[in-house]
Amino acid sequence: MSTDEPAVTLHEAGVRYGNGTLALDGVSLQVAAGEFVAVVGPSGGGKSTLLRLAAGLLAPSGGTVERSCDRLGFVFQDPTLLPWRSVRGNVELAGELRGVRRAERRRLAAESLARVGLAEVAGQLPRTLSGGMRMRVSLARTLTGRPELMLFDEPFGSVDEITRERLGEQLQELFVADGFAGLLVTHSVAEAVFLSQRVVVLSDRPGRVVGEVAVPLPYPREPRVRFSPAFTELTARVSALLRGEQPPAPAARPVAEPAAKPAAKVKPPAKAEPATKAEPAAKAEPVAKAEPAAKPEPGAEATPRPKGKPAAEPAAETAAGTVAAGKEVA
Ligand SMILES: Nc1ncnc2c1ncn2[C@@H]1O[C@H](COP(=O)(O)OP(=O)(O)OP(=O)(O)O)[C@@H](O)[C@H]1O
Ligand SMILES: [Mg+2]
Repeated sequence: MSTDEPAVTLHEAGVRYGNGTLALDGVSLQVAAGEFVAVVGPSGGGKSTLLRLAAGLLAPSGGTVERSCDRLGFVFQDPTLLPWRSVRGNVELAGELRGVRRAERRRLAAESLARVGLAEVAGQLPRTLSGGMRMRVSLARTLTGRPELMLFDEPFGSVDEITRERLGEQLQELFVADGFAGLLVTHSVAEAVFLSQRVVVLSDRPGRVVGEVAVPLPYPREPRVRFSPAFTELTARVSALLRGEQPPAPAARPVAEPAAKPAAKVKPPAKAEPATKAEPAAKAEPVAKAEPAAKPEPGAEATPRPKGKPAAEPAAETAAGTVAAGKEVA
């Protein structure tokens, strides 16, 4: 994938299921290479459908979907671990399905488990782990495919709040280090703002984009950024869009959090746009375009994506968290 090309582009994409349900309608959304975008919206509004569309597991019934990368990682809400396999065996499964040689599989599994802090439980069975640890195994399994585009469907929804926050912090470290493009569906507004460079808000079914809030906070984001006025302001805007209200006007002061000095630099949102483009869920026409919340800090100007292409085979499975682009392999 060229770093100049968007990882995935949906243009006026719609999905109507076989039973007639119109799940998505006219959704245009782009995730740039190395960009992290979060999607929030009401339950049943088509968020999982959107991810399946982006992964190529579903074909659009209207509009177009284009991907410029082959290596996709898909992290589901359920860690989908095989109970009879050790943690290491589960992580190796992704490589097995891609036909990676045993020694290389072992090496990749050990590396990925170490990255999510689970090296010491590699020989244990999944049932001996906590829910948060199982999610990390699932994440490690997906990382072995060296994905260029990571799709997350409410991955931390079933763990307690503090574990969820820590998992989010760990995910952010991986994103900053690897520079993959990320598309995260979450029900947590705070998680969406903490992790992403842009939060896209979907309407009730059929899902349509009702607004977008740019998050110009530099990475890496310290956990305490969640308590900053800038963070509160951004979450308030996303929440207002979710309720179909006009988002609050941005404050005069900069939104960017000055407390944390970035150790790594990450590409800012793809377009230098106003922080909020909003329209009420009920209306099709935009009614509000708010002033930019703030300019990204200088530290947010560069991408962390390593220039060298990692050697990896095409991804080829779903239960193990990776998918072959454009093919349903379940
Ligand atoms: N395979 C399917 N066949 C028919 N209808 C479907 C199918 N999958 C999803 N739907 C319908 O499409 C709509 C959107 O579903 P989807 O799972 O994308 O929503 P969601 O936003 O992910 O919801 P949640 O937040 O509860 O996970 C729902 O009305 C759902 O019933
Ligand atoms: Mg869903």
